[in-house]
Amino acid sequence: MPVAAAVSASTVKWTRKHLLGLEELSAEEITLILDQAEEFKRLASRGETKLKALSGTVVANLFFENSTRTKTSFSLAAKRLSADTIDFSAGGSSLSKGETFIDTARNIEAMGANQVVVRHSTPGAPLLLSQHVNASILNAGDGTHEHPTQGLLDVFSIRERVGHVKGLTVALVGDILHSRVARSNIWGLTKLGAHVIVCGPATLIPPHIERLGVEVAHNFDSILSRCDCVNLLRIQFERQRSGLFPSITEYSHLFGMNGDRLKKSKSDIVILAPGPINRGVEITPDVADGRNSVILDQVTNGLFIRMACLYLLHQQQNPTAV
Ligand code: CP
Repeated sequence: MPVAAAVSASTVKWTRKHLLGLEELSAEEITLILDQAEEFKRLASRGETKLKALSGTVVANLFFENSTRTKTSFSLAAKRLSADTIDFSAGGSSLSKGETFIDTARNIEAMGANQVVVRHSTPGAPLLLSQHVNASILNAGDGTHEHPTQGLLDVFSIRERVGHVKGLTVALVGDILHSRVARSNIWGLTKLGAHVIVCGPATLIPPHIERLGVEVAHNFDSILSRCDCVNLLRIQFERQRSGLFPSITEYSHLFGMNGDRLKKSKSDIVILAPGPINRGVEITPDVADGRNSVILDQVTNGLFIRMACLYLLHQQQNPTAV
């Protein structure tokens, strides 16, 4: 099918070379990505799964941290748009021989990469890369800073299930302190007019976070009845020092989503989790697999969000491309 048919009907034009975070995007730019992803999803539902939009280009996935969902869906998204792909993982690479992060990226770029997707444990690593390579950079998660495509797919999944985002009350529950997903959700949701509550133990909520325009709560049960959506964030054991909460059992008791809490919630509450989920910690299996959960829809939608991001950045760099 002609690629032009996949172009969003939105009148806003994408002008950015890189996708580094949702903080710098306007509501219109976020909506443009969501609309483009919706269009790709609609085309896929009609069997239009292979588009030629990125034919002749190379998308490199540079992952310096582990990933299941983000890495595979960026790779599939690039293939669905007919790009060639390079999948790089830090393990087994020449990083162990002393090659630097920037040299690694510049060598991958020298193989012809037009777009570089990067995940790194250091906040700001994608921004740094954007200053040292010519390719477009897409942030696939940088430390505790941002995970823009996760924020976009979360907002997309809410909009898809509810029909709109404006006016909704969305709680982000858990480890806000170490969560790049929380930050991207906060930017994306508040820009589209949702009321965001961050909820967790005081030790896992960053000081002054209310300056981002969110409500802060430490008692999950006290906010539950107001929530239209709850996004359950994983405890990031790999990023935190010990002693931030007494025990996993106590955390789960106070902040875990379970059948009892679901019964006290709105009947159509939307349950999200970015994954990977720790069953029995932030969410019990009955809720994770129940009718209110959109956890696997989020994964499906991640493919279309990443297609949209790759497509819009490519269009910006190649304005005459169809
Ligand atoms: N949600 C998310 O980023 O998952 P991965 O770490 O598996 O990519």
